[in-house]
Amino acid sequence: MKLVIIKRFLLLLVALSLPAAASPQQADVERRVEALLARMTLEEKLGQLQQLDGEANGNYRPEHLDLVRKGLLGSTLNVRGARRVNELQRIAVEQSRLKIPLIFAFDVIHGYRTVFPVPLGEASSWDSAAVERAAHVAAAEASAAGVKWTFAPMVDIARDPRWGRVVEGAGEDPYLGSVMAVARVRGFQGRDYSATDRVVACAKHWVAYGAAEAGRDYNTVDLSERTLREVYFPPFKAALDAGVGTFMSAFNDINGVPASANPFTLTKVLREEWKFDGIVVSDYESVRELINHGLAADDAEAARYGLGSGIDMEMVSRTYNKNVPRLLREGKISQSVIDEAVRRVLRIKFRLGLFEKPYADEARESAVVASRENLSAAREIAARSIVLLRNERETLPLGKDLKSIAVIGPLADSQKDVLGSWTGDGRPEDAVTLLAGIKTKVSPNTTVAYAKGVEISGDSTDGIAEAASLAARSDVSILAVGESAEMSGEAASRSSLDLPGRQLDLVKAVVATGKPTVVVLMNGRPLTINWVAENAPAILETWFAGTQAGHAIADVLFGDVNPGGKLPVTFPRAVGQIPLYYNYKSTGRPPDPNNKYTSKYLDVPVTPLYPFGYGLSYTRFRIADLQLSARSIGPNGRLTASVEVENVGRRAGDEVVQLYVRDMAASVTRPVKELRGFERVTLRPGEKRRIEFALAPEHLGFYNRDMRFVVEPGAFKVFVGNNSVDVIEASFDVVE
Ligand code: BGC
Repeated sequence: MKLVIIKRFLLLLVALSLPAAASPQQADVERRVEALLARMTLEEKLGQLQQLDGEANGNYRPEHLDLVRKGLLGSTLNVRGARRVNELQRIAVEQSRLKIPLIFAFDVIHGYRTVFPVPLGEASSWDSAAVERAAHVAAAEASAAGVKWTFAPMVDIARDPRWGRVVEGAGEDPYLGSVMAVARVRGFQGRDYSATDRVVACAKHWVAYGAAEAGRDYNTVDLSERTLREVYFPPFKAALDAGVGTFMSAFNDINGVPASANPFTLTKVLREEWKFDGIVVSDYESVRELINHGLAADDAEAARYGLGSGIDMEMVSRTYNKNVPRLLREGKISQSVIDEAVRRVLRIKFRLGLFEKPYADEARESAVVASRENLSAAREIAARSIVLLRNERETLPLGKDLKSIAVIGPLADSQKDVLGSWTGDGRPEDAVTLLAGIKTKVSPNTTVAYAKGVEISGDSTDGIAEAASLAARSDVSILAVGESAEMSGEAASRSSLDLPGRQLDLVKAVVATGKPTVVVLMNGRPLTINWVAENAPAILETWFAGTQAGHAIADVLFGDVNPGGKLPVTFPRAVGQIPLYYNYKSTGRPPDPNNKYTSKYLDVPVTPLYPFGYGLSYTRFRIADLQLSARSIGPNGRLTASVEVENVGRRAGDEVVQLYVRDMAASVTRPVKELRGFERVTLRPGEKRRIEFALAPEHLGFYNRDMRFVVEPGAFKVFVGNNSVDVIEASFDVVE
């Protein structure tokens, strides 16, 4: 079954990555692009390469009207809503000389009006079908509101939780990141992004933005080509193979050449090796920021670097239209480079069907956006994203007929925070808080009382006594702590991963009452929560679960949904352990508690608080009998690993069975484990199933010393488990 799915998936990937002129429609697009290009003036060409920002509320700016009329604007970002989009589009299509439609872009990251869990939360579901569905809903709502281009998915690998944008991606792992990238691209774009309910997606930020030194946003990156190819590139390549129409360049410097002017990443890899023919848009002013980087001396040089290295469209800064005419006259940029960039922009506009259907349907917008169906999808997917980190003495699930419940904490009733960062057109007033979700869930005889206790940050402890006394009077306390939505996301790096403010004091006071306490975490990054992990009887990681957060969390708390999510990132014990990730290298002196001179710390264990892939359930699973279909294979060979998973507890539930591989000795050192397959299964109590994983050269190979992807002969280990640490293993050999 699994094999069949993998084969179909591979076929689909092949089908989606056929070269541009493969189909008659595509040949037709190319003809139309050339015909239009031949009629354009230089000014109009540069107009297509310009993207400008609207107002935060979704309006266009007055200056846009004139620019559009003159054909000097190709795209906007943030302008949204069918009526406003249509107003501006009408000028492009009816009043500009060549009638080229605008493409309206927006950051539709985890929902448009119906907000789904933040991407890190969605990735915690380890459920690509759910993630694809969420992206489809987001696309349907956005496109109904006139937005046909989303700046998502963000597929940056993030190994440093100090970096606030860890919340926007799928975590630390290239394989999980690739699966999620494909799911999101397919959800946004479908098979054909010109469909009414789809948008064109954007793989961002190309590339290695997540490796910002010290986790400080926008900071410098210095990485080997091997690490780029093995860790940071794969989710982008997966997005590309899934047909992603656009890329966004990153803000950061890479090995001395900023990502928005880097010929190696933008041209050699993306265009020459990968044959990408869609748009690369810069990040917000990242072309002009080449001056701040110290690469370009002035705007003209910034334009030459940006356009010359393959940034087709300039977001917000305006160096191209002001400087390219002179650069062209001076022979510093060629006509063919300009034309190629324009071709890519027009190509995507044609593929999107904008020339045939430039307008949004205002009636559809109100029917589609935040529909009942979409909200129920958001609730279901939010519940699937929740990770149970601890559950001593079966504290959870709770009964719905408890006499009294104390709901405590600064995040328990915040509508704004549960939406997380990048909320699209999401509205706090739509959001269901934890308090509201619990009230709806419990029996009419249950008293639910609320005490905030403390603020998210700040030093006041004034409310703690009252909260603790409420806890002492109640049967159970549910304590919502974590970060505010603004503490993660862009420009939101933190040097501490502790619970901010006095929240830990609040947790301690509530736990000290001795009453059963459930900690519900809301946060955009892994946190160092050692005390909580040792002392709170139950912990749920809910990230920022979106519009339906309160209902989804209540579904899990009270057992209507058995949690099955797994961490897509490692939780460190101390910020000083960072970067801490599961697919590390062994070193020459692997940590040994009995030997001082091994790779470790004096003051903290080397192990994480919670490993990658970790998550519990209200039932228990046994994973056993790992079998390989062969003891040895050739370098181009394949094999199947299969394992039995059994629900040995008393409730139906989900387990994510994870397969990792290690190449034991190779010409380049290999990580101690690399995720190469997983499957989320639902089993009834007592039910048993055999799961199969296909292992092929792409799962076993690596970039050798000549930077060629190879599978080398030698011993391999296969590990299977329900997280990256608790595994059973088997071995096989690759032979010449
Ligand atoms: C972010 C991008 C985003 C863009 C447009 C930038 O600051 O880095 O991720 O797509 O703004 O909003």
